Amino acid sequence: MLNFSLHIPTKIIFGKGEVGRTGEIVREHAKKVLVVTGRSSTKKTGALDKVIKSLEGAGVGFVVFDQVEPNPRAETVDRGGQMARDENCDLILALGGGSAMDAAKAIATVAISGRPIHEYIRGNKTGLWKELQPVKEALPVITIPTLAATGSEANSNAVITNWETKEKAGVSGPALFPRVAILDPELTYTVPAHYTADGAVDIFAHLYEGYMTGDENADVQDELTEGLMRNVVKYAKPALENPEDDHARAHLIWTSTLALIGLTSAGREGSNPVHKIEHTLSAFYDISHGRGIAVLTPAYFRQIIRKDRPQRLARLGRQVFQVKHEDDLEACDATIEAVQEWFKEIGTLDTLKNLGIKQEALKVMAEETIRVGGLGHNFLAATHPLTADEVLHLYEEVFE
Ligand code: NZQ
Ligand code: ZN
Repeated sequence: MLNFSLHIPTKIIFGKGEVGRTGEIVREHAKKVLVVTGRSSTKKTGALDKVIKSLEGAGVGFVVFDQVEPNPRAETVDRGGQMARDENCDLILALGGGSAMDAAKAIATVAISGRPIHEYIRGNKTGLWKELQPVKEALPVITIPTLAATGSEANSNAVITNWETKEKAGVSGPALFPRVAILDPELTYTVPAHYTADGAVDIFAHLYEGYMTGDENADVQDELTEGLMRNVVKYAKPALENPEDDHARAHLIWTSTLALIGLTSAGREGSNPVHKIEHTLSAFYDISHGRGIAVLTPAYFRQIIRKDRPQRLARLGRQVFQVKHEDDLEACDATIEAVQEWFKEIGTLDTLKNLGIKQEALKVMAEETIRVGGLGHNFLAATHPLTADEVLHLYEEVFE
């Protein structure tokens, strides 16, 4: 196991109905909050009403910023940051999926510095992010996830897109760890089937990225990872069949938090190439992050991992999908088949063409992936340095 330093400062409050305690929890940290949420779901489901009622009951002042779109945009973040400044808010309260939570963290950053968030986006053309990362100062953030997927509720990352330059990448730093994350599985009952499934794939990917690319001598992390993978595979289907299955929803949201809180990546130093290859897709075509990951995963396993680290893919198959083959390459093929079968069952087996992506854009997207995701290098970190041609080859395999 490699040396590591791990600091997980977010207090986690978990349980059905806990959203009702929002006001009392927030009151310990703030007098007036900016509630950052998406454009429609939290109004339709009643989640926003629950939060507002609880804030009012506790005498916490608030204003609502309900302009966050999926794949949140830099200009939206800048408007939210200005609103937090104008309204003298002292905390940002995120209510929603990864998009609302990421936007909230970015707004917390802009609210303090007054600088446009684009300057902080890693890999942006101006290179200013090199001075501004990691983010050291931001308003405090509290998160209330309504979708099990990103783990943004308890980590220090935000993924923001500059829509003009098509740069989607992370903003991160210790100041962005939420103070508290309120995980109320009941808020996720209303997540539609396709986002439930995309979220499950995203959780699975947060687990396999480091497992495939990082140091291989971290047994504790490997077993934690495999246990969490088994849970996401086990509970995605029940949540789809019965959206109000509390046991399944509770396990999915808790798995999403644990998958990207730093526990499984500590001591491994892995990378996240599939995420970077996907982020270009959602930056260019505004697709669902988890769906893009689902499309790319089988090709990534086949073209990269089966060649570079067949023993890891074989192990994943044996530990998570009951693959029995003793030969590693045969086990790899059976694992890829099992993963595709799971994607089919939950409805995420897809193609780039079907998601509206144009063949003529593949080359430029591959090049942009290296430029933005390579962070100044002409390759993407993975089991070996990936070139733009290799990224293009991945896109081509899953095009139709
Ligand atoms: O937009 P609204 O109206 O809020 O509706 C959302 C959205 O349309 C809806 N939704 C959320 N909760 C719901 C619900 N609908 C009904 N009932 C509920 N309870 O679902 C749609 C998708 O929401 P979104 O927040 O976009 O999804 P997700 O949680 O998958 O977040 C995706 C974003 O997070 C980034 C992605 O790149 C993407 O921008 N990521 C953030 C990470 C992080 N901060 O650590 C890591 C991830 O790898 C990822 O990159
Ligand atoms: Zn992800």
